[in-house]
Amino acid sequence: MKLKSIIIALVVITATISFSSFQPKPDVMERGKKLYQSECLACHQADGRGVSRLAPTLIKTPWVLGDKKTLIDIVLNGVSGLEVEGEIFYNPMPDHSRLSDKEIADVLTFVRNSFGNKASAVSADEVKQRRLAKKK
Ligand code: HEC
Repeated sequence: MKLKSIIIALVVITATISFSSFQPKPDVMERGKKLYQSECLACHQADGRGVSRLAPTLIKTPWVLGDKKTLIDIVLNGVSGLEVEGEIFYNPMPDHSRLSDKEIADVLTFVRNSFGNKASAVSADEVKQRRLAKKK
């Protein structure tokens, strides 16, 4: 009986810890939202669905939910020639390297946890690593 309650307590504690570490902090989401509105919304739209032939959706794409390095590189360097959900685009995505590491981390954390997306946060340090890798 005692062992059972210890096991239950451990499960609850583990679940709470993993859940809270997965939830992005509210202030990060708030800053990320503002940056999204000023830096990304014009093309990818308020609901993240994009515009046909002009900008792709950011909802559950492999770039948004997948490897963070690739995602960070897209924002730092821009990108062209992608096919997203069977569509190609007239214009390339411009680079946003003038944004700070923290700003890129916040906006990507926001995108990865908005529009129905759910994925781990991006840190300023992860962005910094990609910026350094680019300079080599
Ligand atoms: C001037 C318009 C424009 C702006 C501003 C813009 N994008 Fe894009 N984005 C594009 C286009 C166009 C593509 C597809 C380019 C291609 O490969 O042809 C793209 C592709 C992407 C992709 C990869 C494909 C996908 O849909 O998953 C991601 C992720 C992305 N953008 C995120 C962002 C974020 C985050 C911002 C703001 C920091 C941003 N974009 C700002 C136009 C834009």
